[in-house]
Amino acid sequence: MGPRMREELLAFVSERGTLLEPDAVEFLLSQHDPIASLATFLRSCHETPFVVTLHDVVRAGEIGRKAATSVRIAVAPKAIPIPVTIPASFARLGEDASDRDPNVRILRDITGRSTCEGTLEDFTRYFRHRFQVLRGMLRSRRELAGAQEIAKARRSTREVRVIGIVADVRTTKKGHRILDLEDEADQISVLLPADSAIAAEPVVSDEVVGVVGTVNDRGLLIAVALLRPDLPSATRFHGAPGHVRAAFMSDIHVGSRTFLDEKWSKVSAWLAGEDEIARSIRYLVVSGDVVDGIGVYPRQDEELAIDDIYGQYEALARMIGALPDRLTVVMLPGNHDAVRPAEPQPAFPQSIQKLFDSSVIFAGNPSLLSLDGVRVLAYHGRSMDDLVSAIPGMSYHRPIDGMKAMLRMRHLAPIYGGKTPIAPEAEDHLIIDEVPDIFVTGHVHSVGVDQYHGVVLVNSSTWQAQTPYQKMRNIEPMPARLPIVDLSSGAAIIREF
Ligand SMILES: [Fe+2]
Repeated sequence: MGPRMREELLAFVSERGTLLEPDAVEFLLSQHDPIASLATFLRSCHETPFVVTLHDVVRAGEIGRKAATSVRIAVAPKAIPIPVTIPASFARLGEDASDRDPNVRILRDITGRSTCEGTLEDFTRYFRHRFQVLRGMLRSRRELAGAQEIAKARRSTREVRVIGIVADVRTTKKGHRILDLEDEADQISVLLPADSAIAAEPVVSDEVVGVVGTVNDRGLLIAVALLRPDLPSATRFHGAPGHVRAAFMSDIHVGSRTFLDEKWSKVSAWLAGEDEIARSIRYLVVSGDVVDGIGVYPRQDEELAIDDIYGQYEALARMIGALPDRLTVVMLPGNHDAVRPAEPQPAFPQSIQKLFDSSVIFAGNPSLLSLDGVRVLAYHGRSMDDLVSAIPGMSYHRPIDGMKAMLRMRHLAPIYGGKTPIAPEAEDHLIIDEVPDIFVTGHVHSVGVDQYHGVVLVNSSTWQAQTPYQKMRNIEPMPARLPIVDLSSGAAIIREF
């Protein structure tokens, strides 16, 4: 591990308000993912310890490995579904998009509506809103009909149903999992027995779940079922009339030395050319990290080709301006962009918007868009970092798994206090309130298309080659792939450049 990993690890430690014993530092740096290993340990603690010892991290590693083996059965590794050949019907059915007027609406985002000042009251209100909305979704599930408040359920001797926010999750020496579940008035510890299928079910902090079970004489709720808000099973894709298509990009990272200039020229030429599929593309959704930014990580300046933030956006504006006129571009920010890092992020400020021509529509991150009436939930995907470190078996190479987890939890960034900074707005804008037709994320520099309960899932690749940081962390990106979705049928393909 290089010096940068050490720096990153120490930054992570100080962010969490704890200290690492020197031996623990060395041990962690010898691990595959030092930060994830430490995060796993910290999550297993009731309170953040003053000092994390070598003994702590070694023991946490053993628990982590055990959990990973038991979950491997549940989350079987699966290849990213990339169609090798593009079905002929996809090309044949395409409609020439230049004959149509664009129909884009931003149905929901934070732009101009941020209210939070980061006070303690803001946080309380934020979590209350998160809890109430997700509890409402859970209550409508048949299995949780008649769910009781925790205070009442703990006095019952019969089977109970409760709904709560996960305050803590840990694994015991015997392999049982314990959740501390809270509602507005009370809290209860829930045991997911080691020998049951639900013990292997990954649960993360701050998600809202329902539990069915019985309370034992020590006040512990022994669970027989664990339920998530999830999507209704009968969700269906509401297609637009006519086979007009949307293409998806993210993580262009203009300004970085590793930005793939030639690949961009190729995709740009293809979009402007006579190809039937290219001509059917009406919309281009760009989901964040459109430039590399300045000062996003330590010593970034060594990896920049353009070291001025406006210079980076100007270069991007020229690239976008050269795309064919029939394309309407919708652009949102990511964690490398020049807006506040805390999510939900507003659209770019005027000083950046004015660099682009009028065919570009700016939206917040996340945002719910309507493209010809098809609802697209676009989210950059920062929370994937937290999901990958919290859920054994989750991987940057299979972002679709993370997206399905978000849909099951009905939340884009369930884990609070990890790598994803969250602003405590009056309402939780990261809740997946309405079921979209298409759900798109980026951030992980991978690619994939799939479906979950009728929702088309897209992870939108990158236009940046492997960075030194990714090389160090063994992350192999999948750049220069363009996912394209038919807005009438929901059929999705990935075109490689
Ligand atoms: Fe990103």
